[in-house]
Amino acid sequence: MTLTEQLSPDAAGIARAVDWLRQGQPVAIPTETVYGLAADARSGAAVAAIYAAKDRPAFNPLIVHVADVAATQRLAHLPEIALRLAEAFWPGALTLVAPLREDAGLSSLATAGLETVGLRVPAHPVAQAVLRAFGGPLAAPSANASGRISPTSADHVLDPEGGLAGRIQAVVDGGPCPVGVESTILGFEGDRVVLLRPGGVAVEEIEAVLGTPVVLQADPAKPSAPGQLSSHYAPRAALRLNADAPRAGETFIALTGDDPLALSDTGDLTQAAARLFDVLRRADRLGRPIAIAPVPEMGLGRAINDRLRRAAAPRPGA
Ligand code: TXA
Ligand code: MG
Repeated sequence: MTLTEQLSPDAAGIARAVDWLRQGQPVAIPTETVYGLAADARSGAAVAAIYAAKDRPAFNPLIVHVADVAATQRLAHLPEIALRLAEAFWPGALTLVAPLREDAGLSSLATAGLETVGLRVPAHPVAQAVLRAFGGPLAAPSANASGRISPTSADHVLDPEGGLAGRIQAVVDGGPCPVGVESTILGFEGDRVVLLRPGGVAVEEIEAVLGTPVVLQADPAKPSAPGQLSSHYAPRAALRLNADAPRAGETFIALTGDDPLALSDTGDLTQAAARLFDVLRRADRLGRPIAIAPVPEMGLGRAINDRLRRAAAPRPGA
Protein backbone atom coordinates (compact mmCIF):
# COMPACT_ATOMS: atom_id res chain seq x y z
CA MET A 1 0.00 0.00 0.00
CA THR A 2 1.39 3.36 -1.11
CA LEU A 3 0.22 6.81 -0.10
CA THR A 4 -0.79 8.24 -3.49
CA GLU A 5 0.52 11.81 -3.90
CA GLN A 6 -1.94 14.37 -5.28
CA LEU A 7 0.24 16.70 -7.37
CA SER A 8 -0.70 20.18 -8.57
CA PRO A 9 -0.45 20.82 -12.32
CA ASP A 10 2.34 23.41 -11.92
CA ALA A 11 6.06 23.09 -12.73
CA ALA A 12 6.86 21.45 -9.37
CA GLY A 13 4.03 18.92 -9.68
CA ILE A 14 4.97 18.04 -13.24
CA ALA A 15 8.66 17.65 -12.29
CA ARG A 16 7.65 15.30 -9.47
CA ALA A 17 5.44 13.27 -11.84
CA VAL A 18 8.31 12.99 -14.33
CA ASP A 19 10.64 11.82 -11.52
CA TRP A 20 8.28 8.92 -10.80
CA LEU A 21 7.94 8.13 -14.53
CA ARG A 22 11.74 8.03 -14.91
CA GLN A 23 11.85 5.55 -12.03
CA GLY A 24 9.45 3.32 -13.97
CA GLN A 25 6.44 4.15 -11.77
CA PRO A 26 3.02 4.80 -13.34
CA VAL A 27 1.45 8.22 -12.67
CA ALA A 28 -2.15 9.26 -13.38
CA ILE A 29 -2.38 12.37 -15.55
CA PRO A 30 -5.30 14.35 -16.97
CA THR A 31 -6.04 14.30 -20.69
CA GLU A 32 -8.95 16.06 -22.37
CA THR A 33 -10.82 12.71 -22.62
CA VAL A 34 -10.27 10.87 -19.31
CA TYR A 35 -7.42 10.54 -16.78
CA GLY A 36 -4.76 8.14 -18.05
CA LEU A 37 -2.42 5.93 -16.02
CA ALA A 38 0.85 6.78 -17.77
CA ALA A 39 4.16 4.92 -17.79
CA ASP A 40 7.26 4.73 -20.00
CA ALA A 41 6.11 2.84 -23.12
CA ARG A 42 9.72 1.72 -23.81
CA SER A 43 10.04 -0.12 -20.50
CA GLY A 44 8.48 -3.54 -20.02
CA ALA A 45 8.72 -3.18 -16.24
CA ALA A 46 6.99 0.21 -16.26
CA VAL A 47 4.19 -1.06 -18.52
CA ALA A 48 3.82 -4.17 -16.37
CA ALA A 49 3.30 -1.85 -13.39
CA ILE A 50 0.29 -0.31 -15.22
CA TYR A 51 -1.28 -3.73 -15.72
CA ALA A 52 -0.61 -4.61 -12.06
CA ALA A 53 -2.12 -1.37 -10.70
CA LYS A 54 -5.25 -1.78 -12.86
CA ASP A 55 -5.53 -5.56 -12.54
CA ARG A 56 -5.83 -5.51 -16.32
CA PRO A 57 -5.72 -8.62 -18.54
CA ALA A 58 -2.28 -8.56 -20.16
CA PHE A 59 -3.53 -9.20 -23.72
CA ASN A 60 -5.10 -5.75 -24.01
CA PRO A 61 -2.85 -3.32 -25.94
CA LEU A 62 -2.42 0.22 -24.60
CA ILE A 63 -2.61 3.57 -26.37
CA VAL A 64 0.81 5.23 -26.70
CA HIS A 65 0.82 9.01 -26.16
CA VAL A 66 3.37 11.43 -27.59
CA ALA A 67 3.70 15.22 -27.72
CA ASP A 68 3.41 15.83 -31.47
CA VAL A 69 2.84 14.31 -34.91
CA ALA A 70 6.58 14.07 -35.64
CA ALA A 71 6.96 11.78 -32.62
CA THR A 72 4.21 9.45 -33.90
CA GLN A 73 6.11 9.01 -37.15
CA ARG A 74 9.14 7.71 -35.24
CA LEU A 75 6.92 4.95 -33.84
CA ALA A 76 4.64 3.91 -36.71
CA HIS A 77 4.16 4.06 -40.47
CA LEU A 78 1.18 6.39 -40.80
CA PRO A 79 -0.61 5.99 -44.13
CA GLU A 80 -1.32 9.15 -46.14
CA ILE A 81 -4.96 9.17 -45.08
CA ALA A 82 -3.92 8.95 -41.40
CA LEU A 83 -1.73 12.01 -41.81
CA ARG A 84 -4.72 13.95 -43.10
CA LEU A 85 -6.67 12.98 -39.99
CA ALA A 86 -3.66 13.78 -37.81
CA GLU A 87 -3.49 17.25 -39.27
CA ALA A 88 -7.20 17.83 -38.66
CA PHE A 89 -7.57 16.33 -35.17
CA TRP A 90 -4.18 16.17 -33.39
CA PRO A 91 -3.62 17.21 -30.74
CA GLY A 92 -7.00 15.84 -29.68
CA ALA A 93 -9.36 13.02 -28.75
CA LEU A 94 -8.38 10.71 -31.62
CA THR A 95 -6.32 7.48 -31.59
CA LEU A 96 -4.94 6.07 -34.85
CA VAL A 97 -3.88 2.42 -35.13
CA ALA A 98 -1.00 2.04 -37.61
CA PRO A 99 1.78 -0.47 -38.42
CA LEU A 100 4.54 -0.40 -35.81
CA ARG A 101 8.02 0.62 -37.02
CA GLU A 102 10.69 -1.98 -36.42
CA ASP A 103 12.90 0.59 -34.73
CA ALA A 104 10.09 2.06 -32.59
CA GLY A 105 11.68 0.83 -29.37
CA LEU A 106 8.34 0.24 -27.63
CA SER A 107 7.89 -2.51 -25.08
CA SER A 108 5.96 -5.40 -26.67
CA LEU A 109 3.87 -5.42 -23.51
CA ALA A 110 2.53 -1.96 -24.45
CA THR A 111 1.38 -3.23 -27.86
CA ALA A 112 0.43 -6.69 -26.52
CA GLY A 113 2.77 -8.15 -29.13
CA LEU A 114 0.74 -6.78 -32.07
CA GLU A 115 2.36 -5.43 -35.24
CA THR A 116 0.30 -2.28 -34.93
CA VAL A 117 0.24 0.47 -32.32
CA GLY A 118 -2.52 2.82 -31.17
CA LEU A 119 -1.15 6.39 -31.10
CA ARG A 120 -2.55 9.60 -29.69
CA VAL A 121 -1.32 13.18 -29.34
CA PRO A 122 -3.37 14.56 -26.43
CA ALA A 123 -4.30 18.25 -26.35
CA HIS A 124 -4.63 18.72 -22.58
CA PRO A 125 -1.98 21.25 -21.46
CA VAL A 126 -0.97 19.11 -18.45
CA ALA A 127 -0.60 15.96 -20.58
CA GLN A 128 1.43 18.01 -23.06
CA ALA A 129 3.65 19.42 -20.29
CA VAL A 130 4.28 15.93 -18.84
CA LEU A 131 5.06 14.46 -22.29
CA ARG A 132 7.48 17.27 -23.12
CA ALA A 133 9.25 17.14 -19.76
CA PHE A 134 9.47 13.34 -19.90
CA GLY A 135 10.70 13.40 -23.50
CA GLY A 136 9.44 9.95 -24.50
CA PRO A 137 6.31 7.94 -25.34
CA LEU A 138 3.86 7.20 -22.52
CA ALA A 139 1.54 4.21 -22.59
CA ALA A 140 -1.70 5.15 -20.82
CA PRO A 141 -4.99 3.33 -20.42
CA SER A 142 -7.75 4.99 -18.42
CA ALA A 143 -6.71 5.37 -14.75
CA ASN A 144 -9.32 3.07 -13.20
CA ALA A 145 -9.33 -0.53 -12.01
CA SER A 146 -9.93 -2.77 -15.04
CA GLY A 147 -13.62 -2.91 -16.02
CA ARG A 148 -14.71 -0.03 -13.78
CA ILE A 149 -16.00 3.42 -14.72
CA SER A 150 -13.34 5.64 -16.35
CA PRO A 151 -12.13 8.63 -14.27
CA THR A 152 -12.80 12.20 -15.39
CA SER A 153 -11.36 13.89 -12.27
CA ALA A 154 -8.47 13.30 -9.85
CA ASP A 155 -11.07 12.41 -7.18
CA HIS A 156 -12.36 9.64 -9.44
CA VAL A 157 -8.80 8.30 -9.79
CA LEU A 158 -8.55 8.18 -5.99
CA ASP A 159 -12.07 6.77 -5.42
CA PRO A 160 -11.86 4.02 -2.77
CA GLU A 161 -14.41 2.12 -4.92
CA GLY A 162 -12.82 1.07 -8.26
CA GLY A 163 -10.10 3.75 -8.07
CA LEU A 164 -6.33 3.49 -7.72
CA ALA A 165 -5.65 5.16 -4.34
CA GLY A 166 -2.83 3.26 -2.64
CA ARG A 167 -2.03 1.40 -5.88
CA ILE A 168 -0.08 4.17 -7.67
CA GLN A 169 2.54 6.70 -6.59
CA ALA A 170 0.86 9.89 -7.79
CA VAL A 171 -1.94 11.64 -9.66
CA VAL A 172 -1.55 15.08 -11.24
CA ASP A 173 -4.77 17.00 -10.53
CA GLY A 174 -5.74 18.92 -13.67
CA GLY A 175 -9.42 19.34 -12.77
CA PRO A 176 -12.31 17.78 -14.67
CA CYS A 177 -11.71 16.40 -18.20
CA PRO A 178 -13.43 18.64 -20.77
CA VAL A 179 -14.41 15.87 -23.25
CA GLY A 180 -15.28 13.17 -20.69
CA VAL A 181 -15.31 10.04 -22.90
CA GLU A 182 -12.29 8.21 -24.30
CA SER A 183 -10.76 8.95 -27.68
CA THR A 184 -12.25 7.76 -30.96
CA ILE A 185 -10.11 4.87 -32.30
CA LEU A 186 -9.62 4.44 -36.07
CA GLY A 187 -7.78 1.75 -38.00
CA PHE A 188 -6.81 1.57 -41.68
CA GLU A 189 -7.44 -1.21 -44.21
CA GLY A 190 -6.12 -0.19 -47.61
CA ASP A 191 -7.80 3.13 -48.27
CA ARG A 192 -10.65 2.37 -45.88
CA VAL A 193 -10.90 4.02 -42.48
CA VAL A 194 -12.43 1.70 -39.88
CA LEU A 195 -14.10 2.84 -36.66
CA LEU A 196 -12.73 0.63 -33.86
CA ARG A 197 -14.26 2.62 -30.98
CA PRO A 198 -16.56 5.67 -31.06
CA GLY A 199 -15.26 8.43 -28.79
CA GLY A 200 -14.52 12.08 -28.26
CA VAL A 201 -14.27 13.06 -31.95
CA ALA A 202 -17.64 12.54 -33.67
CA VAL A 203 -17.72 10.25 -36.73
CA GLU A 204 -19.53 13.04 -38.60
CA GLU A 205 -16.50 15.35 -38.09
CA ILE A 206 -14.13 12.64 -39.34
CA GLU A 207 -16.25 11.97 -42.43
CA ALA A 208 -16.33 15.70 -43.17
CA VAL A 209 -12.52 15.72 -43.34
CA LEU A 210 -12.29 12.47 -45.36
CA GLY A 211 -15.13 13.26 -47.73
CA THR A 212 -16.01 9.53 -47.57
CA PRO A 213 -17.85 7.39 -45.00
CA VAL A 214 -16.00 5.74 -42.14
CA VAL A 215 -16.47 1.95 -42.24
CA LEU A 216 -17.99 0.39 -39.15
CA GLN A 217 -16.04 -2.58 -37.87
CA ALA A 218 -17.19 -5.56 -39.98
CA ASP A 219 -17.83 -8.11 -37.24
CA PRO A 220 -18.59 -6.44 -33.93
CA ALA A 221 -18.52 -9.88 -32.26
CA LYS A 222 -14.80 -10.11 -33.09
CA PRO A 223 -13.54 -6.64 -32.24
CA SER A 224 -9.97 -5.85 -33.23
CA ALA A 225 -9.78 -3.38 -30.36
CA PRO A 226 -9.83 -6.04 -27.65
CA GLY A 227 -12.01 -5.65 -24.62
CA GLN A 228 -14.57 -3.88 -26.74
CA LEU A 229 -17.67 -5.90 -26.09
CA SER A 230 -17.62 -7.54 -22.68
CA SER A 231 -18.79 -5.70 -19.60
CA HIS A 232 -16.73 -2.58 -19.17
CA TYR A 233 -17.13 0.80 -17.51
CA ALA A 234 -19.40 -1.02 -15.10
CA PRO A 235 -21.19 0.57 -12.16
CA ARG A 236 -22.12 -1.82 -9.34
CA ALA A 237 -25.83 -1.27 -9.85
CA ALA A 238 -27.88 -2.84 -12.65
CA LEU A 239 -28.37 -0.45 -15.56
CA ARG A 240 -31.52 -0.29 -17.73
CA LEU A 241 -31.10 1.54 -21.05
CA ASN A 242 -33.57 3.51 -23.22
CA ALA A 243 -35.93 4.08 -20.29
CA ASP A 244 -38.67 6.64 -20.79
CA ALA A 245 -39.34 6.83 -17.06
CA PRO A 246 -38.08 5.17 -13.87
CA ARG A 247 -39.79 2.13 -12.40
CA ALA A 248 -40.37 1.88 -8.65
CA GLY A 249 -37.06 1.88 -6.77
CA GLU A 250 -34.91 2.98 -9.73
CA THR A 251 -32.60 6.00 -9.90
CA PHE A 252 -33.35 7.84 -13.15
CA ILE A 253 -30.79 9.59 -15.37
CA ALA A 254 -32.48 11.97 -17.80
CA LEU A 255 -30.80 13.30 -20.94
CA THR A 256 -32.00 16.86 -20.36
CA GLY A 257 -33.23 18.85 -17.39
CA ASP A 258 -32.22 20.57 -14.17
CA ASP A 259 -32.14 17.36 -12.11
CA PRO A 260 -28.61 17.03 -10.65
CA LEU A 261 -28.33 13.59 -12.31
CA ALA A 262 -29.43 14.81 -15.77
CA LEU A 263 -26.72 14.38 -18.41
CA SER A 264 -27.15 17.95 -19.65
CA ASP A 265 -29.27 21.04 -19.06
CA THR A 266 -29.83 21.70 -22.76
CA GLY A 267 -29.77 18.25 -24.42
CA ASP A 268 -26.34 19.06 -25.85
CA LEU A 269 -24.58 15.71 -26.47
CA THR A 270 -21.09 17.15 -26.02
CA GLN A 271 -22.03 18.34 -22.54
CA ALA A 272 -23.71 14.98 -21.86
CA ALA A 273 -20.48 13.14 -22.78
CA ALA A 274 -18.43 15.37 -20.48
CA ARG A 275 -20.77 14.57 -17.56
CA LEU A 276 -21.48 10.89 -18.32
CA PHE A 277 -18.98 9.08 -16.07
CA ASP A 278 -19.45 11.47 -13.13
CA VAL A 279 -23.25 11.09 -13.33
CA LEU A 280 -22.93 7.27 -13.46
CA ARG A 281 -20.71 7.32 -10.36
CA ARG A 282 -23.09 9.56 -8.43
CA ALA A 283 -26.12 7.46 -9.45
CA ASP A 284 -24.27 4.27 -8.45
CA ARG A 285 -23.58 5.67 -4.98
CA LEU A 286 -27.34 5.83 -4.32
CA GLY A 287 -27.30 2.02 -4.23
CA ARG A 288 -30.43 1.41 -6.34
CA PRO A 289 -30.83 0.04 -9.89
CA ILE A 290 -30.29 2.75 -12.50
CA ALA A 291 -32.51 3.57 -15.49
CA ILE A 292 -31.24 5.94 -18.17
CA ALA A 293 -33.13 7.81 -20.89
CA PRO A 294 -32.50 7.15 -24.61
CA VAL A 295 -29.56 9.07 -26.11
CA PRO A 296 -29.64 9.91 -29.86
CA GLU A 297 -27.15 7.91 -31.96
CA MET A 298 -25.40 10.95 -33.46
CA GLY A 299 -22.36 13.11 -32.69
CA LEU A 300 -20.95 12.19 -29.27
CA GLY A 301 -24.18 10.26 -28.62
CA ARG A 302 -22.51 7.30 -30.39
CA ALA A 303 -19.70 7.24 -27.81
CA ILE A 304 -22.19 7.67 -24.95
CA ASN A 305 -24.35 4.77 -26.20
CA ASP A 306 -21.27 2.57 -26.73
CA ARG A 307 -20.20 3.11 -23.09
CA LEU A 308 -23.76 2.61 -21.80
CA ARG A 309 -24.23 -0.67 -23.71
CA ARG A 310 -21.05 -2.00 -22.17
CA ALA A 311 -21.94 -0.70 -18.70
CA ALA A 312 -25.24 -2.61 -19.01
CA ALA A 313 -23.68 -5.83 -20.40
CA PRO A 314 -23.61 -9.00 -18.28
CA ARG A 315 -20.63 -8.96 -15.91
CA PRO A 316 -18.01 -11.70 -16.03
CA GLY A 317 -18.46 -13.83 -12.93
CA ALA A 318 -21.57 -11.89 -11.94
O1 TXA B 1 -9.03 8.67 -24.39
C1 TXA B 1 -8.39 7.62 -24.36
O2 TXA B 1 -8.23 6.91 -25.35
C2 TXA B 1 -7.78 7.22 -23.01
C3 TXA B 1 -6.75 8.30 -22.64
C4 TXA B 1 -6.03 7.99 -21.36
O3 TXA B 1 -5.86 8.48 -23.71
N1 TXA B 1 -7.15 5.94 -23.07
C5 TXA B 1 -7.87 4.79 -23.18
O4 TXA B 1 -7.11 3.67 -23.15
O5 TXA B 1 -9.08 4.75 -23.28
P1 TXA B 1 -7.67 2.22 -22.90
O6 TXA B 1 -6.46 1.37 -22.64
O7 TXA B 1 -8.72 2.22 -21.83
O8 TXA B 1 -8.30 1.80 -24.25
C6 TXA B 1 -7.44 1.50 -25.31
C7 TXA B 1 -8.17 0.80 -26.40
C8 TXA B 1 -8.38 -0.63 -26.04
O9 TXA B 1 -9.70 -1.05 -26.36
C9 TXA B 1 -7.35 -1.34 -26.89
O10 TXA B 1 -7.72 -2.62 -27.18
C10 TXA B 1 -7.28 -0.43 -28.12
O11 TXA B 1 -7.35 0.85 -27.57
N2 TXA B 1 -6.00 -0.57 -28.84
C11 TXA B 1 -4.78 -0.15 -28.46
N3 TXA B 1 -3.85 -0.52 -29.35
C12 TXA B 1 -4.49 -1.17 -30.34
C13 TXA B 1 -4.09 -1.83 -31.55
N4 TXA B 1 -2.81 -1.90 -31.92
N5 TXA B 1 -5.04 -2.40 -32.32
C14 TXA B 1 -6.34 -2.34 -31.96
N6 TXA B 1 -6.77 -1.76 -30.83
C15 TXA B 1 -5.87 -1.19 -30.03
MG1 MG C 1 -10.49 2.04 -20.08
